[in-house]
Amino acid sequence: YEIYLHGMTGVVPRLPTDLTRLERLAEQRLGPGPVGYVAGSAGTGSTAVANRAALDRRRIVPRMLRDVQERDLSVEVCGRALPAPLALAPVGVLSIMHPDAESAAARAAAAQGVPYILSSASSTPLEEVAEAMGDGERWFQLYWAKDREVTRSFLHRAKAAGYTALFVTLDTPLLAWRPRDLDQAYLPFLHGVGTANYFSDPAFRAGLAKPVEEDPNAAVRHFVGMFADPAKTWPDLAFLRENWDGPIVLKGILHPDDALRAADAGVDGVVVSNHGGRQVAGSVAAADALPRVVEAAAGRLTVLFDSGIRTGDDIFKALALGAKSVLVGRPYAYGLGLDGQAGVEHVLRCLLAEFDLTLALSGHSRPATLTADDLIEESV
Ligand code: FNR
Repeated sequence: YEIYLHGMTGVVPRLPTDLTRLERLAEQRLGPGPVGYVAGSAGTGSTAVANRAALDRRRIVPRMLRDVQERDLSVEVCGRALPAPLALAPVGVLSIMHPDAESAAARAAAAQGVPYILSSASSTPLEEVAEAMGDGERWFQLYWAKDREVTRSFLHRAKAAGYTALFVTLDTPLLAWRPRDLDQAYLPFLHGVGTANYFSDPAFRAGLAKPVEEDPNAAVRHFVGMFADPAKTWPDLAFLRENWDGPIVLKGILHPDDALRAADAGVDGVVVSNHGGRQVAGSVAAADALPRVVEAAAGRLTVLFDSGIRTGDDIFKALALGAKSVLVGRPYAYGLGLDGQAGVEHVLRCLLAEFDLTLALSGHSRPATLTADDLIEESV
């Protein structure tokens, strides 16, 4: 009721509380470079559209008279108690959106008690972001480099800086065909703004003929050539297991057989995700892939979800389909672009409040009681 009560004194929110309107506002206010980078998807954007449609097609069937006065949104993810089933997805190169970049997003997450997943491709070194977060829960996303020493060094640095879980993004062994970026010949990395973790890394620097400062273009080329690796296969996961003693979560799983392989490989969790529709054009919608992955995981893996989450009822639906928690990407990037740390906090508070209300109004007091029975799927 806080927002309504503010209304009595004439104080209205600085940003829209409907995050799809916030997105429109960002598109108007921020330039075509930043908006193209964040909004951009693979191909014609059909996967991003399908992500939304798959969530919209599922409708909640609310239950009545179930005493929802006291509610507890907390969940446990990979052994960590979280206040709510929500985390900030790794989004690279946030300095495009705001000069305070990842540090502002991380501070917002810490202030709202939400974990922050820092991208390998951040514009701020991972140690600096950790410092900005204080005690906030921080997880590290790995783009699994070709160079073993760079990967080993990243894992070592992330551990030393207090990142507790490792999210390994598997859906980006190559960057996809993204027309909005291609048409502008715009790859943020080429402007050297998503390379802070690499340029500050001793193992990366050791692979350069000249210091980064002397030949930044050669350093960027070295980065582009090594930051992802299309030759990786499942047995390579053993290397990560040997070099990371905390939870490992594989991000970008869509096929149930890959969930089985993940469980057999001994990882702790998976994120059902199609990278927000940015990698495979024509891919299955993430919400359509979720139930089959949950079934295959059969309790052996923590299953998380992202791609298309825009509202509290989307969170409800993902949890009802079997996810333990969701990640959100673009909405907070837009919040950051519009109002820095305060904008990210606004986005988080909207999502958390709306989820809490949806839960209560649908007859639930905690996430654990949600099941597929709370949803129906409309035929197309
Ligand atoms: C991403 N995503 C991403 N994922 C990742 O593992 N590492 C990264 O560096 C990035 N960078 C990135 C940049 C931008 C601008 C976007 C929009 C997305 C994917 C991200 O973690 C997440 O999977 C999606 O954003 C989820 O979909 P929604 O919430 O944006 O629909």
